[in-house]
Amino acid sequence: MNRAAGGLIGTSPVRLDGWEKISGEARYVDDLSIPGMWVGGTVRSPVASGKIVALRRDPSFDFSRVVVVTARELPGPNVVAMIREDHPVLAADRVRFVAEPIALVAAPDKPTLAAALTAIEVDIQPDEPVLTIEDALAGKGPVWGDDNILAEYGIASGDLEAGFAEADLIVEGTYRTGHQEHLYLETNGMIAVPRGDGGVEVIGSLQCPYYVLNALTRALSLPPEKVIVRQVATGGAFGGKEDFPSVLAAHAATLALRARHPVKIVYERTEDIRATTKRHPSRVSVRTGVKRDGTLVAADIDVVLDGGAYTTLSPVVLSRAILHAGGPYRIPNVAIRGRAVATHTAPNGAFRGFGAPQTLFAIERHMDRIASRVGVDPVTVRRRNLLTTGDQLPCGQILHEPVAAGLVLDRALALSDYKGKRGKRSPSANARTLSGIGLSVYYHGGGFTGGGEERIRGKASVRFSREGRIEILVSNVEMGQGATTVLCMIAAQALGLPLEMVTHPYPDTSQVPDTGPTVASRTTMIVGKIVVDACDALAAKLRAHLAREHGAEERAIRFADGSWWAADRQLGSFRECGLRYLDAAGPLVGDATYRHPEGLRWDEENFRGDAYKSYSWGADVVEVEVDRDTLEIRPLRATVVVEIGRAINPVLAVGQVEGGTLQALGWGYLEEIKMDAGRYLNDRVTTYIIPTTLDAPAMQVELAEFPYERGPFGAKGLGELPMDGGAPALAAAIEDATQIFAAGIPITPERLLRLRIEEGGS
Ligand code: MOS
Repeated sequence: MNRAAGGLIGTSPVRLDGWEKISGEARYVDDLSIPGMWVGGTVRSPVASGKIVALRRDPSFDFSRVVVVTARELPGPNVVAMIREDHPVLAADRVRFVAEPIALVAAPDKPTLAAALTAIEVDIQPDEPVLTIEDALAGKGPVWGDDNILAEYGIASGDLEAGFAEADLIVEGTYRTGHQEHLYLETNGMIAVPRGDGGVEVIGSLQCPYYVLNALTRALSLPPEKVIVRQVATGGAFGGKEDFPSVLAAHAATLALRARHPVKIVYERTEDIRATTKRHPSRVSVRTGVKRDGTLVAADIDVVLDGGAYTTLSPVVLSRAILHAGGPYRIPNVAIRGRAVATHTAPNGAFRGFGAPQTLFAIERHMDRIASRVGVDPVTVRRRNLLTTGDQLPCGQILHEPVAAGLVLDRALALSDYKGKRGKRSPSANARTLSGIGLSVYYHGGGFTGGGEERIRGKASVRFSREGRIEILVSNVEMGQGATTVLCMIAAQALGLPLEMVTHPYPDTSQVPDTGPTVASRTTMIVGKIVVDACDALAAKLRAHLAREHGAEERAIRFADGSWWAADRQLGSFRECGLRYLDAAGPLVGDATYRHPEGLRWDEENFRGDAYKSYSWGADVVEVEVDRDTLEIRPLRATVVVEIGRAINPVLAVGQVEGGTLQALGWGYLEEIKMDAGRYLNDRVTTYIIPTTLDAPAMQVELAEFPYERGPFGAKGLGELPMDGGAPALAAAIEDATQIFAAGIPITPERLLRLRIEEGGS
């Protein structure tokens, strides 16, 4: 193929799903109605921990009008299959978090459902909940297993003792981050439709069609061919529709099979906030040995994540957390220990960044602490230690691909005039506000951790349709991030076709192969590459056919300027030749399977080797204003420079960076889940505050591009990277303004005030 022909890569066509979304044509789950459809709801635990004594039905309600399902009436094992099988579809004997599902109800309409839900009373004998990382580590409860440890991993490199012996000083710190709610625009929702053959079809707002399919086959004891999962327009996800839809699909499908009606469950916002996953809170203790000039010689890092009541994805969130815990720094002697612990709170799960923002917050704050201890500025201490090409990560991975850490730092400093602004707290003595500027450097591994991509072995197909279009058949979804546009651009470029000829239908597991989930910044880099290979396979089939058709040699057949040619004889447009193929030879489909990049190795047992196929790099400079009296924080400006390989669509890439940065800032100073005995106190949008447009700082984003040879047209992962840098840069800026070192987020005015009183700061 003549790849130059399309010339699409690096241009920014308008997003392909844009019109249907701004015009209101896009149909989300809650817009869909199916004849005979009922509505479903959930009876939930009012307490964080306790023994279920009884479920009582109010005799004044006519229960024959509805369907009720408890753990005893489930069609299959009481398991939502994820990494482990510890997560029940419905709590059976004990409840382990507030809002844990205990029973399901389906009714013909919403008023009947509401009446039925009120007519079921749960009698629970409560006990003392375990709500903190410290209590979980102390083995209280236990919430899970004998010791509350959901997962434990370690990484080590060099000789820790020798490293600390070389050090001139030891710098220690403990860093904490809180829950974060995804607050996608569209809450979780699912429709299940019973099928004549005893199977079920579910239609929902989700990231991972095959995760849902696997969970359903297990929970319903159905063979895979009797389960279909379809995604529809999805109003944001951020990881929040990676694991939870498996739970919701199991609920909706269970009800649909019992009621023999289609059943829709769409959560109200409050229910969504109470019952679904959050970002794992963390406690990261860092002990470093440094030379007098700030050079790191040793680091001993202890990472603890609060996993909530069940395993969900905590082991893989933890592995990504510890693999990013050293930050973008060269640390010759290092030990990193990671544990995910169970508490009596809603299970925490996937959230953009997947553990890395937590540990990168810790190491970036720690670098600032080292800087002030050794008396150099935050830039210098980073420059002394920044990774460069050929360096080694704590897991032993040698960074053969160009390392852009230094480059992104330099650009961010220059673009923001960091040096000119740093340390100028107050424009005048009587100004109402203090101003500050801070920075962070970070990196993010693209694709699944370790051997994940090899295990999934994602498959993609592209199909030429009768309408003369190329359909991309993958299980990866558009959820607002731009996947449809980017995948179509990649396929169009690979085939040398105009973008209008390519479509990416909503995935339907009866139509698309398993390309793996839409997670881990893998869609462009990993899936995009498989799509390129599938396009090549399709073109090869067509070329072979045209060669036969025209009695020419295959290598004489080429596609250029919109036409197929045999030497200089024009055979017709892609569309004409494709349609001739369909008539003569049947379906024209190109298939491809993930190919493992040669030379990369991962040792799962020892957590050593090439943890990620590639890394993307970023640096943030954040400028804030802090009110002297109220300690209110206002981010004014964010300068973000990221290196992401080739940007397929720069406008979409910048959009991802801006959105991720704002989400990271929100996590850093605004977003806070407040709890009382395990119950969320702020379970609505009026009280769970995220930054709005008015809170957004002015943003300047620059893309640095070192094309990555193994990615599609040079692209690497991007989606999660911008979640990593905002919070530590913000914390550093607040410190520059107030002289208060915050080791935990969110840095609310209340936290700042507490710290100011403790430190006796200004
Ligand atoms: Mo993600 S947080 O890998 O959906």
